[in-house]
Amino acid sequence: MNDSKTDPADRGAQPAPRLVIDLAAIQRNYAALQRLAPGAQTGAVVKANAYGLGAARVVPALADAGCRTFYVAHTTEGREAREALAGREADIFVFNGFWPSELDSLREARLFPVINDLHQFHQLRELAPDLPCAIHFDTGMNRLGLGPNATQSLIDNPDWIEGLDVRQLMSHLACSHEPDHPLNARQLQRFARARACFPEIPASFANSGGAMLDARYHFDILRPGLALYGGHPAPGQDNPFEPAVRIEAPVLQVRRIAAGDCAGYGAIFTATHDMQIATVATGYADGLVRACGDGGYGRIGGVKVPIIGRISMDLTTVDLSEVSTPVEPGDWVSFLGEDVEPMAQAAHTITYEFLVRLGQRFQRTYLPGLPAAE
Ligand SMILES: Cc1ncc(COP(=O)(O)O)c(C=O)c1O
Repeated sequence: MNDSKTDPADRGAQPAPRLVIDLAAIQRNYAALQRLAPGAQTGAVVKANAYGLGAARVVPALADAGCRTFYVAHTTEGREAREALAGREADIFVFNGFWPSELDSLREARLFPVINDLHQFHQLRELAPDLPCAIHFDTGMNRLGLGPNATQSLIDNPDWIEGLDVRQLMSHLACSHEPDHPLNARQLQRFARARACFPEIPASFANSGGAMLDARYHFDILRPGLALYGGHPAPGQDNPFEPAVRIEAPVLQVRRIAAGDCAGYGAIFTATHDMQIATVATGYADGLVRACGDGGYGRIGGVKVPIIGRISMDLTTVDLSEVSTPVEPGDWVSFLGEDVEPMAQAAHTITYEFLVRLGQRFQRTYLPGLPAAE
């Protein structure tokens, strides 16, 4: 936030909490991923409404940045992504596969299902062999994808794949956020082995954390989500990605409390000295998870203001002790931004969950992205 003071022009209306989403930062994060894996293409995972940030705006911004492959979880999300592309050409893969009743819908929006088991594979061969698809090998996560036996069956029967339009082979890393985890190398070895049997089909293995591993993990197309939105894929290392989202909420009241006074529901905070506090117009209804009251903080003009007491549905109280300039109602407090990781940690969760739970009542402000290069 550049300035914590309310613009006088805004004083007529009550300033509403807003979610500021920086499309240019998302585009720069896309470019940073491209630099990490210059030999690969970079796709974008835009499921769950682009991790809560708004697929209708994020998808075109990524397309402007050069992205031509998108991944969603559900067919409905794929339809939204296709609509957001407004006629621009791009492949959209649907991670959760397909139900036979969805085939028309997939065709209509030109969505490519990811095949996760042999039953689905044979169903596709029977019902829609012309529909482009991806095949997902489960190399050790035991979540979705062809397990070891199904993978071996496919390797032993390469003719099964003939006549199908398989556009990608993929697998997903369980522990890419821990670069030294031994499962990374085991998954890589299993994926490389399966992929070697179908060398002409492009392969996709690396999510955000995988993009930060060495080039052996990159294959033909990266599949990042979190890094695009400024999350830190490998905590403990420097984060090469910029924050792309922040909450800005106005101060409603400023008050002095004395040593021994409490603040908020349950009176769990008691002041140990006289202090100035502010009540801010955002709360857990906006996704400022109640648990992040313990250790979470906002910022006024860049200065940290720790959250004190319990976060309420619409209100959060912060400690102004470190702020040297006067604070008044209407001044802005920002949350998340560069602090999204510690806030998620304070809430005993991960940045992914924090982002997708951001509330719906915010006024959403999108900072513009760069236009597409001609
Ligand atoms: C199959 C698959 N690929 C890629 C991603 C993107 O992962 P990340 O957000 O860690 O980059 C996800 C996210 O959950 C996923 O489920």
